Amino acid sequence: MFQSGFLGYQTTFMLDFVVCALALVVPLLLYSLWLVKVRRNYLGHKRLQIALGLILLVAVTAFEVDVQLVHGGWENIVARQPLDEVQLAAKISGVRPWLLVHLLFAVTTPVLWIITITLALRRFGKNPRPGAHSRLHATLGWASTLDITLTSITGLLFYYVAFMR
Ligand code: HEM
Repeated sequence: MFQSGFLGYQTTFMLDFVVCALALVVPLLLYSLWLVKVRRNYLGHKRLQIALGLILLVAVTAFEVDVQLVHGGWENIVARQPLDEVQLAAKISGVRPWLLVHLLFAVTTPVLWIITITLALRRFGKNPRPGAHSRLHATLGWASTLDITLTSITGLLFYYVAFMR
């Protein structure tokens, strides 16, 4: 079951799963920002951000274990496509720059999210309200939002060029 994808391309279950998670995270994040900015529902925003952070952490860790340890690297997943040796080498070197751009955002996002969530939990306390931590949280929060959005967009672009095109 975990050997093949479910979106109709020659991929793996975990690759398709993480692509769905990346596509879902942006609308959920927008909802969380609407909760905090429009509804002033600070507790709802807190809970949703923690849930999103945990889901992303579990999904990405399971995905990395699957790609690296089970399949021996993303190149082996691309190699499932019906390509001869020359075509495969061309495809791999053609899509690698897309992956590198994606990794730039994918590596910095968890670091920023962990800092944003840890500081928010410590400084806003049990009953989060605007206060002394608001200024720094706004900077970290928007940076985290931008980073995960770019992780999502570049991840989906990589999936497109590597597996759909
Ligand atoms: C990675 C996780 C998080 C992100 C990306 C995020 C993002 C944001 C953003 C963009 C804002 C709006 C800032 C503005 O006014 O321009 C905000 C506000 C706020 N967030 Fe978060 N947040 C996160 C986690 C948390 C957590 C865990 C808590 C509570 C412990 C929290 C509590 C708040 C509060 C109280 C505000 C309102 C601040 C104010 O209006 O002064 N956030 N957040």
